[in-house]
Amino acid sequence: MEVRTIRFDEHGDKRGTLVSLEQLKDVPFEIKRVYYMYHTVPEARRGCHAHKNLRQVLVCVSGSCSVLLDDGRERAEVHLDSPNKGLVVESCVWREMFGFSESAVLMVLASELYDESDYIRDYKDFLGYVGGQG
Ligand code: TYD
Repeated sequence: MEVRTIRFDEHGDKRGTLVSLEQLKDVPFEIKRVYYMYHTVPEARRGCHAHKNLRQVLVCVSGSCSVLLDDGRERAEVHLDSPNKGLVVESCVWREMFGFSESAVLMVLASELYDESDYIRDYKDFLGYVGGQG
């Protein structure tokens, strides 16, 4: 499946580096919610769901982790290891995050507020949902 990553502009000088993310410019949607996960144990597998409508950009702002994406037909794996790299995860894509390094902080920019009814948490339900759409 096609994987879309975004390389964010970096403002670097002798003090260090700054990245700024603006909605509809650096990120392809209006940002309604930001959340981040940290202190993730190395054996953890997070996510393991899809969303009906939500769009997201994942940024590993510290450390690294891997993301499995599955659109119901194909899978892809992406390693996030830079604070200037964003992974676009569109709706109707199953995602699993794993392989978190010790210092990993995974930030998620989301197009919608938290809504449990937007989740598809069962993989078979997901295949039925995307199959029914095609
Ligand atoms: P969970 O869906 O298990 O996270 P992940 O998809 O990364 O495995 O969410 C963990 C908890 O956090 C769960 O109780 C729901 C809550 N939560 C919120 O309250 N708001 C949010 O925006 C998110 C993503 C989760």
